[in-house]
Amino acid sequence: MKARHLAWPVTGWGVGASEDFSPCVAARAPTYEGGPALNKIKISRMTEKDLDEVMRIEEVSFSAPWSRGMFLTELRDNPFSKLLIARLDPPAGGDEQVRLAGYCCFWVIFNEVHIMNLAVHPDWKRKGIGSRLVEETISISREHGVKKIHLEVRQSNDQARRLYEKFGFQVIAARPNYYTHPREDAVLMALDLE
Ligand SMILES: CC(C)(COP(=O)(O)OP(=O)(O)OC[C@H]1O[C@@H](n2cnc3c(N)ncnc32)[C@H](O)[C@@H]1OP(=O)(O)O)[C@@H](O)C(=O)NCCC(=O)NCCS
Repeated sequence: MKARHLAWPVTGWGVGASEDFSPCVAARAPTYEGGPALNKIKISRMTEKDLDEVMRIEEVSFSAPWSRGMFLTELRDNPFSKLLIARLDPPAGGDEQVRLAGYCCFWVIFNEVHIMNLAVHPDWKRKGIGSRLVEETISISREHGVKKIHLEVRQSNDQARRLYEKFGFQVIAARPNYYTHPREDAVLMALDLE
């Protein structure tokens, strides 16, 4: 999931290009205890204004996080890239720090999608936010006529692997020593949309 390959021909945001995507009530919100109420999750496009919040999540989520510059490249220069954010609406307890709860970056390359990055704020994990982001990615992929979605994930990342398996992704290959910090194999997972 952390690979960087930018040599793709040009395309646009295309289908599903509206500013906001479907709002959704978080599946397990009522069971959350000891914190502000999680009412709704609103999925929309990431903009540069979101990057402070995105970077806070990125830096605590990965041992080799993307830099701000990498996100800026995706936002400004990569015509294949789509970046979604999940916001709590209204903000949790009025705290802007936790208002942006997660994000996803994926590339639409003709009839294939590659999920490049996905993370949820540590305080807001296991409440359906990652699932909402994957659902929206699949929905936008279908709108684009995509046939297959790919991603790489660390072999040991059981949380993410279970999330993807829940949506029908299957392991199709291994990529030995794909990751650094620490060095680890990747598993390549794919979801067939046909
Ligand atoms: C992976 C990640 C995005 C999941 O986000 P999330 O919002 O917690 O996921 P959800 O609440 O939608 O959970 C969806 C499913 O994932 C699986 N899952 C998520 N967290 C899990 C955990 N701690 N233990 C076991 N399964 C887990 C479950 O199957 C869950 O479905 P269920 O609750 O119905 O059993 C989040 O844990 C994260 O940001 N991890 C760090 C960054 C990362 O690894 N990104 C993925 C890189 S490939």
